[in-house]
Order: sequence, then structure tokens, then C-alpha cells
Amino acid sequence: MSNATPVLSAKGLVKRFGRVTALDETDFELYPGEVLAVIGDNGAGKSSLIKALSGALTPDAGEIRMNGEPVSFSSPMQAREAGIETVYQTLAVSPALGISDNLFLGRELRKPGILGSVFRMLDKAEMRRQATQQLSDLGLLTIQNINQAVETLSGGQRQGVAVARSAAFGSKVVILDEPTAALGVKESRRVLNLIKDVRDRGLPVVLISHNMPHVFEVADRIHVHRLGKRAAVIRPDTHTMSDAVAIMTGAVEVESDAA
Ligand SMILES: Nc1ncnc2c1ncn2[C@@H]1O[C@H](COP(=O)(O)OP(=O)(O)O)[C@@H](O)[C@H]1O
Ligand SMILES: [Mg+2]
Repeated sequence: MSNATPVLSAKGLVKRFGRVTALDETDFELYPGEVLAVIGDNGAGKSSLIKALSGALTPDAGEIRMNGEPVSFSSPMQAREAGIETVYQTLAVSPALGISDNLFLGRELRKPGILGSVFRMLDKAEMRRQATQQLSDLGLLTIQNINQAVETLSGGQRQGVAVARSAAFGSKVVILDEPTAALGVKESRRVLNLIKDVRDRGLPVVLISHNMPHVFEVADRIHVHRLGKRAAVIRPDTHTMSDAVAIMTGAVEVESDAA
């Protein structure tokens, strides 16, 4: 795996918030077709790392590459245009909009022909059809009305909409920051299956999670983040959950060769 070019990588990323060093010269690599889990204690810098990778925050130092080429995203929208879809830990769905509108936010489908190209008319029916299809495939919602406002959904269902959106639109990378944190057992299972489906479509996934059984079930490799940097990269077939926790908490130190 390590002789392939990473789809997304970073070297020496630094991010400070006042006196807090959220990222302390961290490295990162995501390889084609893999599910890479990122684990670490609260405050270790996991969310800051994926925000830096996805244009939601500007690092103070370091470089980010996509397929070996240096990139610098100044907004999540730019990262999206490059094919990186991110579901942030604090959900970015628009509560007052409908489910279908949320799925297509920022990339609405236009009507075919002159109605769409000149008059910019939205193809609401097609968006609804695709949204219904995606969400029922995912099984996260029993959709009575796809136009129902997202604010009427449970936390878990909202998470489902966001995850479905990322899986549907990600073309290079899907990044999920704690996607099952608000979900029950059944909903979590569906999100895990969705992650596997995305990987089976050939798309690499970055999964930030606290849930060790989930991580060990779906991850090909595990990036362990500690005190703002990568402490180790391990694999579910060479390390146990207690090894992972020991590295995460600093109980053991690891010489890492990025597995
Ligand atoms: N916008 C911010 N302003 C100030 N401090 C922040 C901000 N975002 C994160 N931090 C701090 O940076 C550190 C890393 O946070 P974060 O990346 O959210 O970690 P994790 O996702 O691993 O819990 C924490 O100490 C956190 O309080
Ligand atoms: Mg976080």
C-alpha cells in the first residue's frame, strides 16, 4: 500500500488557537480504496486535522497534497469541488430546508434544456426522486415526505442525511467526523454498511470515531492521533483494541512506519 501515491496527504501540519496547539506538525496519509480510521482522545486534534484537510480551517504551517499535487483549499466548497466530501462533527445541515433541498444544497439540479440553462429553473422533481432513492437505499429514514424540514428530524436522522449526502457526492474522498456518535445501534449499523459500500465503489473514506468495535470492523488502517500529532498507524489485523487504546492514551509509545 505504501508505494501507491496517497489520494490525500499532509506533512508537518500546524494549527494553533491562541496557546492551544491543536495540530503539532502532524502527518497524514490516505491511500486509494481504503477506510482509514482516525482515533484519539478528546482534544487530540482529530477534528482540527480533518478541518485542515477539507478547507474548513487554514493551517499555520505544513502542506497538503491530493494525488501528489500540492493543494490549498480556502473553503470547504473548494475542497468539495476537488471531490472531498466532509461531514463535520457539528452538523452542517440547514434545519429549515427540506431533506431533498439539504441533499442538493450548493449543487441543485437544473431542469433539462433551456429552462435550466437559461432560466435556471430547479428540477425539484428529479432532486426529490434521487433523494428518496438514496435515503431509502440507506434505510435511515422512512420517508413520508421528502420535503419535510430537516428540523423535524431526530439527531440520528439528520446525521443520516449528512452521511447520505457525502456518500452520494464524494468523488475522490469521503470524510466522516464521528458519524455514529448521535446514532442508535441500528442506525449506526447502516452507516457502517454505507462506509463499506463507499469503499467498495473505490472511494477512500476517513472515519473519525471513538467506537473501537466500529473502527476495528471497518478500518483497513488506523491513524492514532495524540497531542496534536500522529502517534502511530496500526492495522486491525496486527493490533488489538487494547493496543490502540494504549497508544491513544500514551501508555505505550510506538515506532510507526505508517503501517
Ligand atoms: N475554534 C477553536 N478555537 C479554540 N480552540 C479550539 C478550536 N477548535 C479546536 N480547539 C482546541 O484544539 C484542540 C483540539 O481540538 P479538536 O481538533 O476538536 O480535537 P478532537 O476532535 O480530537 O476532540 C482542543 O484543545 C480544542 O479545545
Ligand atoms: Mg472532534
